[in-house]
Amino acid sequence: MTAIHIQGLGTYVPTKRITNVDLMSLVDTNDEWIVSRTGIKARHMLADDENGSDAGTEAALKALEDAGIAAEDITHVLTATCTPDYLCPSTACIISGKIGSHGAMAFDLNAACTGFVYGLDVANSILAGKPGAKVLLVGSEAFTRRLNWEDRTTCILFGDGAAAAVLTNGEAGTPKRCLPSAPRLRDVRCGADGRQYPLLTVGGGTNRNYKPGDPVQDDFYLQMQGREVFKQAVRSLSAVCSELLEDNGLTLEDIDLFIPHQANLRIIEAVGDRLKLGSEKIFVNLDEYGNTSAASIPLGIGDACAQGRIRPGSRVLLSAFGGGFTWGAALLEF
Ligand code: UT7
Repeated sequence: MTAIHIQGLGTYVPTKRITNVDLMSLVDTNDEWIVSRTGIKARHMLADDENGSDAGTEAALKALEDAGIAAEDITHVLTATCTPDYLCPSTACIISGKIGSHGAMAFDLNAACTGFVYGLDVANSILAGKPGAKVLLVGSEAFTRRLNWEDRTTCILFGDGAAAAVLTNGEAGTPKRCLPSAPRLRDVRCGADGRQYPLLTVGGGTNRNYKPGDPVQDDFYLQMQGREVFKQAVRSLSAVCSELLEDNGLTLEDIDLFIPHQANLRIIEAVGDRLKLGSEKIFVNLDEYGNTSAASIPLGIGDACAQGRIRPGSRVLLSAFGGGFTWGAALLEF
């Protein structure tokens, strides 16, 4: 019998906070445009001497504490990121070394903003095959390092952050600090369509033929055709939620809270309209963080718990969309 649970959760957001007004000194933009087109008011940025692995480590340590599980008992460390410290070693290996889960299998998983939901699916499979395993899943991004601060169409959208979850097969007691109860992962599904991949890219870590002394090329930075991505995000997020609910014999009436990927408030509202879901059931925190990519969904779970919007018994729907394109949805029962 497989009953995968999230036994603990931890989040980390860098202290440095950049408001929309701060961005006005960098690009031709203003608070009114950013808020009305995206809902974002601020985002957080890693310190100069801080990396995605450091943020992931902070989140991982809190998740272990919440779970009441020691780092040395973790068997698998997965990090969902598309802004890793290095191509090699993986951010997962660096985090594993820092927290002390030596010997655990460790690897990165890149599904852009859908990374955490993909990670839930991978963790689900690992735990189904190895019921004694203890999986640490980290979503960590350092997106401000990959933004072109001269491009007003993208630099206003993203922020840094990390969140981590400890997953086990079976429940191991009540979480100590963040989660109100250990939710069962009732179902998860993920998909991708690579045909439109050029619409959202982060290059520069590729095998492009840079020569010594070449300046950083434009493709080092995130590049996005926003309008096309917007349309596809609304379609995919709505579709994957409907499919997951239908396959589980549920309707949106059965959902207590929907935590969508936090990219743009207008995308979230459009998905809510399509699903006919009232705004009171939709969680939003992008006003404070912007788009934190693979950290967005678990940061949402952490904040929703802190605000008392998730309680024991809550049924929570998660859904994400990102570059690739990738998409995914998951159902948690607290
Ligand atoms: O995680 C998944 C990945 N990302 C996403 O899901 C993001 C998806 N896309 C979006 O969120 C939106 O498409 C954006 C927020 C990126 C852009 O919003 P939009 O409503 O699609 O605006 P637009 O690109 O159509 O631009 C409208 C106007 C343009 O001016 P003109 O050509 O009409 O004169 C832009 O140049 O707004 C201008 N503009 C800005 N003005 C002030 C674009 N960026 C800015 C800015 N400040 N930062």
